[in-house]
Amino acid sequence: MTRQLFVTTALPYANGNFHIGHIMEYIQADIWVRYQRMMGSEVHFVCADDAHGAPIMIAAEKAGKTPQQFVADIAAGRKPYLEGFNIGFDNWHSTDGPENHELAQQIYRDLKAAGLIETRVIEQFFDIEKNMFLPDRFIKGECPKCHTKDQYGDNCESCGAVYSPTELINPYSALTGGTPVLRDSEHYFFKLSDPRCVEFLEQWTQASNERGQAHLQSEVYNKIKEWLLPNEEGKRDLGDWDISRDAPYFGIEIPDAPGKYFYVWLDAPIGYLASLKNRFVKLAGDAALGAQHYDAFMADPTTEQYHFIGKDIITFHTLFWPAMLHFSGRKTPNAIFVHGFLTINSEKMSKSRGTGLDPLKYLGLGMNPEWLRYYIAAKLNARNEDVEFSPEDFMARVNSDLVGKYINIASRAAGFIAKRFDGKLGEISDDGAALLTQLRIERVSIEQLYETRDYAKALRETMLLADRVNEYVDANKPWELAKQEGMETRLHDVCTVCIEAFAVLTTYLKPVLPTLAAQVEAFLGVQPLAFDNTSQALGTGHTIGNYKHLMQRVDIKQLEALFEAPANVEPAPAAAELTVPGGEEIAPTISIDDFAKIDLRIAKIVNCEAVEGSTKLLRLTLDVGEGKMRNVFSGIASAYKPEDLIGKLTVMVANLAPRKMKFGISEGMVLAASHADQKANPGLYVLEPFAGAQPGMRVG
Ligand code: 2FM
Ligand code: ZN
Repeated sequence: MTRQLFVTTALPYANGNFHIGHIMEYIQADIWVRYQRMMGSEVHFVCADDAHGAPIMIAAEKAGKTPQQFVADIAAGRKPYLEGFNIGFDNWHSTDGPENHELAQQIYRDLKAAGLIETRVIEQFFDIEKNMFLPDRFIKGECPKCHTKDQYGDNCESCGAVYSPTELINPYSALTGGTPVLRDSEHYFFKLSDPRCVEFLEQWTQASNERGQAHLQSEVYNKIKEWLLPNEEGKRDLGDWDISRDAPYFGIEIPDAPGKYFYVWLDAPIGYLASLKNRFVKLAGDAALGAQHYDAFMADPTTEQYHFIGKDIITFHTLFWPAMLHFSGRKTPNAIFVHGFLTINSEKMSKSRGTGLDPLKYLGLGMNPEWLRYYIAAKLNARNEDVEFSPEDFMARVNSDLVGKYINIASRAAGFIAKRFDGKLGEISDDGAALLTQLRIERVSIEQLYETRDYAKALRETMLLADRVNEYVDANKPWELAKQEGMETRLHDVCTVCIEAFAVLTTYLKPVLPTLAAQVEAFLGVQPLAFDNTSQALGTGHTIGNYKHLMQRVDIKQLEALFEAPANVEPAPAAAELTVPGGEEIAPTISIDDFAKIDLRIAKIVNCEAVEGSTKLLRLTLDVGEGKMRNVFSGIASAYKPEDLIGKLTVMVANLAPRKMKFGISEGMVLAASHADQKANPGLYVLEPFAGAQPGMRVG
């Protein structure tokens, strides 16, 4: 029976372009989808922009656009990535589309009817100037655990502590800089702590689907059971889930709750269903008919639903999402496929910025997208281990394996077939037939490896088969046969074996290398290659086309250019940052009198030393011409060695109240420039005056 599959990748936030992490996930899913199609399955592979939420609303405001326009502009930039890397989604939609509004509201009503929605009044930080409740990421303050300043409201990037925004010391609004106040607000909760939910999730997360495959990979289950199962005191971390946000919010309105919106993570996964529905509407060319087809498809018990996601969003997909679906009377996923992160030269990618390998730069340099597809596939298995991109390894695998082993087979044989045998294949003798049988016999195992997403092993096995073929070529030396008299038939035989073998290997690689496979199909003059026709030989007398070189090798210069930092050019700012110099808004206007209160002086750094017990601070001894020295601690140890600074002039705030610190009293502050987001844009620059300035001179 034809399998009918509904496959998704995670929906990317519509506030930035794709980074290489997105592309890796899409390639993983695309390979699986292409494999399924080669096996004859009907697949609907969909995605969408994850449009809602406070960060997008705020970014749109900063960019001077409506959120809808902002999201549409981001969506317009998706195509070159998807087409460039041959990622064949059948539909691309938006979580702000009408289908999602309707589905989210309906699912909510269904959950409410099931008695699983409850309201509660909670205290939240409110920005008076902006007249809005502040999302966690827009409240900053001092970490309550390690006292690092300027940490987000939900967790500390310095010590990793997780807390609630109300625990921050000296909280401030990242939007206005003002001190937020606590206000009551009624919030809507999905009662995950309800015994019905707990029982369902305990069962579902450990169960398998109709194909005998576990809903979750074992390592994923092991992770989520920390939240799901009771701890030693019999308590569960999994509490009720706050699914509402107060206006202003860019999202979907909660029915019968004026001024309340669904939290973005409530409607985001519903966007999977909305994109599928939108596809059916487009296919039918009629909204009502499309909706009917969608309903029928989702009501069909044989429909299989799979979501590819990264390991950072497993709680949403393995707990909240199945529970939402189940208790709203809908079909639950057949499995959730979780992958790890992509690291580049062992450095973890930043999810929001995507450092390291710029996908469009890759394409712009003329690098073959299928090299990357091959390399990523060669590193991926069914576990959620991180995937390391190393330029040297990339070059070795593409050049030695893909080109050196596989492409080489065709290039070694095709010329002789064209020149000596008029493009026609010949008879195969027993040794060649035995070799081809060896290749064909592996089909079932390779199919299974694709099915279970162990692409690394599928490619390893395919390359081992390519080795067998190359050994056969080396043993038979067609280039010598070609020179020997009376060896015409053997030459024809050996080259025919190579071409037949090449067709089989191409089939095995086709989910990974769709463009190359299409070129090979044209060159071989065959119908689309599929797993179930690997057993059919092209056959004696079959005519193949002229061989043109199918794939270049990676040139080291391309890799150097790919990873070369643009000289003296700031990295392109993300769309959301375009109007925000240095990563933060210009502070509210002050008067000249306000400015005059700050006494800035030229200071000479007469001594500078490391501070024992601190990796951040340097102790500076400063001369501001007062006839005595000042002791100042400055958080610049990451950027300067003490000896770099001794003897230099700088600017200090000379009338700042002395501050008692753990290491002593700091009597002022040295001025330094930095980007607001130090993690994303490291770099710290102490100010130095033009030549001629003297210690003690006032700056103003
Ligand atoms: O983490 C993210 O990038 C989210 N935008 C993923 C959403 S997946 C689904 F739920 F929409
Ligand atoms: Zn901390």
